[in-house]
Amino acid sequence: IKKVTTHQLQEMKNRGEKISMLTAYDFSMAQILDAAGIDVLLVGDSASNVMAGHETTLPITLDQMIYHAQGVVRAVSRAFVTVDIPFGSYQGNSSEALRSAIRIMKESGAHGVKMEGGSEIKESITRILSAGIPVMGHLGLTPQSIYKFGTYTVRAKEDAEAEKLIADAKLLEECGCFALVLEKIPSKLAAEVAKVLTIPVIGIGAGGGVDGQVLVVHDMLGITHEFKPRFLRRYADLHTVITDAVSRYIEDVKRKDFPSDKESY
Ligand code: KIV
Ligand code: NA
Repeated sequence: IKKVTTHQLQEMKNRGEKISMLTAYDFSMAQILDAAGIDVLLVGDSASNVMAGHETTLPITLDQMIYHAQGVVRAVSRAFVTVDIPFGSYQGNSSEALRSAIRIMKESGAHGVKMEGGSEIKESITRILSAGIPVMGHLGLTPQSIYKFGTYTVRAKEDAEAEKLIADAKLLEECGCFALVLEKIPSKLAAEVAKVLTIPVIGIGAGGGVDGQVLVVHDMLGITHEFKPRFLRRYADLHTVITDAVSRYIEDVKRKDFPSDKESY
């Protein structure tokens, strides 16, 4: 199997082939997603919500991100694996940022990192890129700044924020980022960014005018079922599938139907 590289992602954009990306946090799921042919797996800090049950992405640690990334990398034979650098391990200190990125690459074997923000973190991004580590940018709704925004609503609806986003997107490309995630912004703005930039722009809640799409895998599989933003399309209802399966198991155990003689030694 030919592995997906940053070069191939660039070629996908060049020939107009949309890039498919999903989050993954563990070996078993990553194996399924990779075998299904996903292009990019993101070990997202959404693991803080989905895996650990925190309300925000802020509490997850670098060690925990590395643990998730290790399982994902072991499972993958084709997908490009990129890992979120968690809150508090890169902002405002480019030496620490570089150290965090190197730890992720060395200890997990991932292929790249993702960082939230534009001009504010330019120095950190530049240093990581100079070490030969591919960086994916992330602009728009950046959940590590949720307490600055105060809400998970659509970003960059006003001109000033939209203009800063476009300037930041250009800056990230100039710095050498290999791709950019745009989260929850108007589709018109996202399409404009994808057109202005040469590098692939991958959207979540950013419309169809970008170069690829990403979703949180637990959301698109319907494992989480209270979270219903308009950008989410559910491809399965695993919440119901799992509930039904577990209910039948409990029933079978209670009525001594399981295990049968055939299932015993
Ligand atoms: O952590 C995450 O899941 C993400 C995606 C939503 C882009 O950053
Ligand atoms: Na994230």
